[in-house]
Amino acid sequence: MAANLSSSSPLLTFTSLLFLILSSNSYFLATTSAITTKTTTELHDHQSSSNQPFKYIYAFGDSYTDTGNTNSSTGPNAFMSVSRPPYGQTYFHHPTNRYSDGRLVIDFVAQKLSLPFLPPYLSKTADKSSGVNFAVAGSTAIIHSFFAKNNLTLDITPQSLLTQLAWFNSVLESKGCKDKSATPKECKAVFDDSLIWVGEIGANDYAYILGSTVSKATVQKLAIGSVTRFLEAIMNKGAKYVVVQGLPSTGCLTLAMALAAETDRDSFGCVKTSNDQSYNHNAILQSKLNDFRKRFPGAVIVYADYWNAYMTVVKNPKKYGITELFKACCGYSSAPYNFDVFNTCGTTMATSCKNPSEYVNWDGVHLTEAMYKAVSEEILDGSFCQPSFEYLLSMKRKSG
Ligand SMILES: *[C@@H]1O[C@H](CO)[C@@H](O)[C@H](O)[C@H]1NC(C)=O
Ligand SMILES: *[C@@H]1O[C@H](CO)[C@@H](O)[C@H](O)[C@H]1NC(C)=O
Repeated sequence: MAANLSSSSPLLTFTSLLFLILSSNSYFLATTSAITTKTTTELHDHQSSSNQPFKYIYAFGDSYTDTGNTNSSTGPNAFMSVSRPPYGQTYFHHPTNRYSDGRLVIDFVAQKLSLPFLPPYLSKTADKSSGVNFAVAGSTAIIHSFFAKNNLTLDITPQSLLTQLAWFNSVLESKGCKDKSATPKECKAVFDDSLIWVGEIGANDYAYILGSTVSKATVQKLAIGSVTRFLEAIMNKGAKYVVVQGLPSTGCLTLAMALAAETDRDSFGCVKTSNDQSYNHNAILQSKLNDFRKRFPGAVIVYADYWNAYMTVVKNPKKYGITELFKACCGYSSAPYNFDVFNTCGTTMATSCKNPSEYVNWDGVHLTEAMYKAVSEEILDGSFCQPSFEYLLSMKRKSG
């Protein structure tokens, strides 16, 4: 890997960097860390509220949603300081194995629903009575063997969305739910009170194939196919309230800005090819959701438009108190983006900005709490869910 990075081919270098950044480094069966346990026990103040439309949240996704299934030694290679300060400096005031300075979108979802923050599935000691987070940093939508077959992962084995589904199935089985027809009562008991949150998944898939002979069209087809199979499986178990997040506008991330050609820009200053790719992926995903709505009319299936929620902040940052759209808050570099893959946030050379709440980007790939909060507000209270999150809540209230 290190040898590849000194290659004179810009494409090869670009590809290697992305591998380094987005790859999860090993298959693991982690036990809890003290850090994540502490995080989940801190939060029971939210539980006392009487306004709890749901009893449980089950979440899926990658590092944008992971609340501790990975840590410094098990997570993506370029971010091996997630268990160290300054990660977690905002709100928690200590690292929690979240890839941010503070809370993620899923944390704002939990708070909105007056539930405790979601514990990571791989924690053995956390209180999982209000739900579980299955999201894993570095995770792909497409099954890992596809990347292995195409020599795209070296010795790397990230868990895919299908791994997360297998984990969810084991949780459901522990509650007696096999599927909607075999165990209707047990499955109804789980899903009538559960919000299913499918966080952003698929951005890693596109990153892994850059510079290879595998086409973007192939990845798009397989990634959408994988998400579709996942949704099919949970709908057949009896899922009733489901939110599916699209891809963010990946072309606005510090990493993309720092590595793509300077001519590859859209009218907002973000990387055009990358933003277009995510946008197109989302368009197909939405058409699949429409099919599911027809097939499962008893369920509420919401699309959370991460791409446009993100762009709303890019178009009017002042409204959110943001002054820095592209530069990473935490990192190291003399270049305009404060991002260097060998000196990422948390390593000795890296420094952190004074006010992360004025930055969109935290460490080059992941967002600040301020940005996750802005996106959450746009999604949960604004107009970037279709149908609205309020509609989902009203349907839940109606059915009791
Ligand atoms: C990360 O998780 C692994 C597996 O549970 C554990 O052995 C290790 O101590 C953890 N490392 C950190 C830095 O928390
Ligand atoms: C992957 O690498 C192996 C060993 O170098 C090679 O035999 C195989 O053809 C490669 N597969 C692809 C799809 O490139």
